[in-house]
Amino acid sequence: MVFDQFGYIFGPYLLHMKVLRQYPCLSLNTLGLRVDANFFVRVASIEELPGIRKFIRDRQVRYLILGGGSNVLFTGDYDGLILKVELRGIDEVVNYGPHVLIRVSAGEDWDGFVDHCVKRGWGGLENLSMIPGSVGAAPVQNIGAYGVEMKDCLECLEAYDMDQNRMITFSARECRFGYRDSIFKSTYGQRMLICSVTFRLRKEPMINISYGTIRQELERMQVKEPGIADVRKAVCTIRSSRLPDPLLLGNAGSFFKNPEVEEGVYNSLKSRFPAITAYPTERGTFKLAAGWLIEHCGWRGKRLGRAGVFDKQALVLVNYGGASASELLELAEKIKNDVKERFGVYLETEVNII
Ligand code: FAD
Ligand code: EPU
Repeated sequence: MVFDQFGYIFGPYLLHMKVLRQYPCLSLNTLGLRVDANFFVRVASIEELPGIRKFIRDRQVRYLILGGGSNVLFTGDYDGLILKVELRGIDEVVNYGPHVLIRVSAGEDWDGFVDHCVKRGWGGLENLSMIPGSVGAAPVQNIGAYGVEMKDCLECLEAYDMDQNRMITFSARECRFGYRDSIFKSTYGQRMLICSVTFRLRKEPMINISYGTIRQELERMQVKEPGIADVRKAVCTIRSSRLPDPLLLGNAGSFFKNPEVEEGVYNSLKSRFPAITAYPTERGTFKLAAGWLIEHCGWRGKRLGRAGVFDKQALVLVNYGGASASELLELAEKIKNDVKERFGVYLETEVNII
């Protein structure tokens, strides 16, 4: 492998970094797209960041911050530098009273961290079990599942400002979390590299089994008084039965967001399609189940070349092997058009198109 090794002075130290060239990205994205990146570097410590920033500035290259690559679609070879975040460590910051504050480095595996918490009896994240990817990416789209969003437990996070070369602490409020959204996605783009996230978890957990399928699964498991380990187990069982394993079938989870519509729009849809699935939100609007809309356009289980719609969950587009980005995007476009035509609803992409 061709690489540039370069050193730079950091305080009293001379640090060395290896920037690899023409790096194959197949193992860096769960959609399984075969693309290369011009430059690639692993970020293993915060001290390396000013040097990487200098490399980017000196060479005038664009860059992409990457965790597990489970929410990206590369449209072609990446003409720039990929920064693979591999910062590690889990530290208890405060363990006093009913809560524990726990700081986690961005490169930790999300589900490994959830498991770590559940095993210690710290509650709050168990409904977010088995979501692929890294801790550092979790705030970017405020990951959510089964009635919980990551924002519900986030205390603060630390990010490196790639423009200003400084660390910044963001409180939960400053992150401006929304449904699959945050300030990092909506405003900053690639400017903030999230280095660590601090969560506030409960030592006497409050169980959230408001999401119907969890209750059904716990009943099936014959658990009457569930603890967080039971909730984690139920969530893992549901997810394994509905979502494709990226190691076996390329995918990036939900390809689209669930669209939010005003009450009037919902009522009119409900009168035309009585079985439509939707959930009321705190804002008085309704979130439509995009999977239902896509399925009722006849797309569930359909294939278009080497790309397709997963047969157990129509919100997930899959790569049957060797699909190109354009095959996936063409399929996504057809689905969007059909949903728009039949229901008058616009589907927004959840996956980050690179
Ligand atoms: P990547 O794909 O590497 O990056 C995603 C975005 O975050 C990119 O824009 C990237 O630039 C940015 N980013 C990554 N790391 C950092 C960092 N340290 N600092 C700043 N920016 C960063 N999501 C849900 O919300 N709920 C689900 O239930 C869910 N289920 C899924 C199921 C499957 C099978 C799959 C494949 C995906 C699923 N997802 C789900 C989507 C995905 O797992 C999450 O979005 C996850 O947080 C992505 O993590 P990642 O490390 O792979 O991010
Ligand atoms: N549905 C259908 N047909 C389908 C898929 C779903 O009719 O093909 C219906 C289901 O029957 C159910 C409803 O839609 O009544 C909701 O389905 P599900 O519980 O599977 O959740 P979802 O709304 O399709 C969202 C998230 C998932 C998250 C689950 C569980 C989005 C875009 N997706 O999916 O997140 O895991 O809820 O909370 O909000 C992701 O973001 O990548 C992701 C997988």
